[in-house]
Amino acid sequence: MYVSMKEMLLHASEHRYAVMAINCVNLEQAKAICYAADAEAAPVIINISPRQMKAHATPEVMVPLIRALAEPLDVPVALNLDHGAEFKDITRCIRAGYSSVMVDASQYDFEENIRRTRLVTALAHERGISVEAELGHVGQAAAGDGQEADFYTRVDKAVEFVERTHCDALAVAIGTAHGSYPDNYVPQLDFDRLAQLKEALNMPLVLHGGSGAGEANIRKAVALGINKINVCTDLFRHQRAAMHKQLNTEPTIDYMDIQMHGMQAACAFIRSYMHMIGSSGRYQFRHTGDAYD
Ligand code: 13P
Repeated sequence: MYVSMKEMLLHASEHRYAVMAINCVNLEQAKAICYAADAEAAPVIINISPRQMKAHATPEVMVPLIRALAEPLDVPVALNLDHGAEFKDITRCIRAGYSSVMVDASQYDFEENIRRTRLVTALAHERGISVEAELGHVGQAAAGDGQEADFYTRVDKAVEFVERTHCDALAVAIGTAHGSYPDNYVPQLDFDRLAQLKEALNMPLVLHGGSGAGEANIRKAVALGINKINVCTDLFRHQRAAMHKQLNTEPTIDYMDIQMHGMQAACAFIRSYMHMIGSSGRYQFRHTGDAYD
């Protein structure tokens, strides 16, 4: 099923589990994600960022590709623009047929964030497209942004923000950051704040910067109300390492076969992550049986 994020995240919020949102730039990653979702009977979200979409994975190509992979499946698959900051990128994705968009105006002040988010919710909702917004700011791990408490989401502001924007899911800043942390570093998350946000908002909450956040942190964040976890760096690294290893042992490997190695590694990684965050087995229909085990 090719669907918006709205229903799947409401289900996740009601039943206290999280859906994996995975960045994707090509056919091989899209297939690995859809196969993993099918094999795990799990909902899934495919994220494409503006940089990824401009450099490689253009909406006009990715939408038909992902629809073709998702529509025969019984599990819900959403395609979401990740961190849409420019209005023209957001409208391009809506026109191309994305089922969801994120508007990230978290670098602006509160009122401007609201103004930009409202514009997008008005445009997207009338087309049945879900909207994720961000309040507070999830920065870059390399810059140490995760532990910058000034960036964290304020509970009172979050309540007002959601009331005025009608966003379907809210990305919150509680201590994670995007990209790679320094070696052996595990971020500390502000779980009290997360619990208060969930209590006050009672809606789907999103954790960005899932890579390197640590299994204990991820499990606790899900238990306290995170329903969508964005993962990019860990998956790309994992897939590259598997392909690199195979190329070292088999330098003349066929081009298609090396892609298949990458796909299988991605699929295995995603499946184990789906187990960890509780999305496996949520959609117990038929499965097509050609998943990458
Ligand atoms: P990571 O690359 O740290 O997993 O972050 C992904 C993300 O949050 C995309 O929005």
